[in-house]
Amino acid sequence: MTKKRFLFVLLTTIVVGATVLSACAPAAEVEEPAVMEEEAAEEPAEEAMEEEAASLAVGIVLPTKDEPRWIQDETRFRDALTAAGYDVEILFSQGDSAKEKANVEDLITKGVKVIVICPHDSAAAAAAAEAANEAGVKVVSYDRLITDTDAVDYYVTFDSVSVGEQQGQYLVDKAEGTGNPLYLYAGAATDNNAFLFFEGAWNVLQPKIADGTFVIKNSSEALALQDKAELTRDEMGQIIGQVTTNWDFNTAKNLAEANLTAAPAADKGDVFILAPNDGTARAIADAYAADTDVTSYVVTGQDAEVASVQYIIDGKQSMTVLKDVRTLVADAISAAVAYLEGGAPEETKTYDNGVMEVPAKPSEVVSVDQDNVKAEIVDSGYWPAEEFTGLE
Ligand code: BGC
Repeated sequence: MTKKRFLFVLLTTIVVGATVLSACAPAAEVEEPAVMEEEAAEEPAEEAMEEEAASLAVGIVLPTKDEPRWIQDETRFRDALTAAGYDVEILFSQGDSAKEKANVEDLITKGVKVIVICPHDSAAAAAAAEAANEAGVKVVSYDRLITDTDAVDYYVTFDSVSVGEQQGQYLVDKAEGTGNPLYLYAGAATDNNAFLFFEGAWNVLQPKIADGTFVIKNSSEALALQDKAELTRDEMGQIIGQVTTNWDFNTAKNLAEANLTAAPAADKGDVFILAPNDGTARAIADAYAADTDVTSYVVTGQDAEVASVQYIIDGKQSMTVLKDVRTLVADAISAAVAYLEGGAPEETKTYDNGVMEVPAKPSEVVSVDQDNVKAEIVDSGYWPAEEFTGLE
């Protein structure tokens, strides 16, 4: 087996989750992917491989370095690919759709065959996807769906409706009696996921708003729609427009403080807060913790960011939804390898992006609070115990 082939088999092995790479692995049955490797003619291939990792013909474009979530994705992509002896280019768009498109064009010029894109703005990314598609490059939409175009080949994702349902369910499980004050916050309206998370949360919360368990305190739009079990996208957009954090910590903090300033003491006490992700949950939780009329709060999150896991241990954030990024990364690499081999990745579901049904295989997510934080986060190897203090 050549070293190059060995590395490919190793990558494939990681991707499919096989446990043993035996010397008699059926490498001959596997088509080799296109690799962007330049082997110097005068240098023996073995030596060249030892000096530098081969480049996989795949490029990755992530939305921003300003949130721990996407740094985590970058790290876990590098970990998986370095272990397999591959080097790929990972570019960040820094919350700018024009930069995102320039990144995609750069990767096309470099000759990649597959581009994995997590769009900053779901609809604006259509232009970048179309540029790749026109160049014959496969487009894998990563975590967030690229909308309003038929230029998406595959969607690697978690079950985002289930994320929202688990957040909503957590609030429901902690509430007793009736009249519990409910404060709603959402993600960025430019991110299709914000709608999926909100849809999931609404599925679970709406019946409990209708029966009086909860009373919405910070959204006139949500109040006006509270009798509707199912909301249209436009209706969700109206609510999200009023309670968006824009996935930004400062926006979340300012909005929470404005809501608290507007609310009378009678609307505080023991409050329930739907916060869309960990970064905004910490900002919102800090604002509620600082209000002397708030006697207790239950607040949701998602991403199992290190800082939020610590907040959960410390009792400052109630829960998070663990979306195991290792799974998403493995699914993305698996999809890319399938395309490089001339095949197609596994499909268990499709997502409507406004123009087409995009094939996908959504992964499961896990609700985490103080009761299972050690088992799900540390014992599972997701984050090392040294990251945390006060973990029993
Ligand atoms: C992702 C979340 C993330 C949020 C903000 C969403 O699309 O699914 O994991 O927290 O964007 O970046």
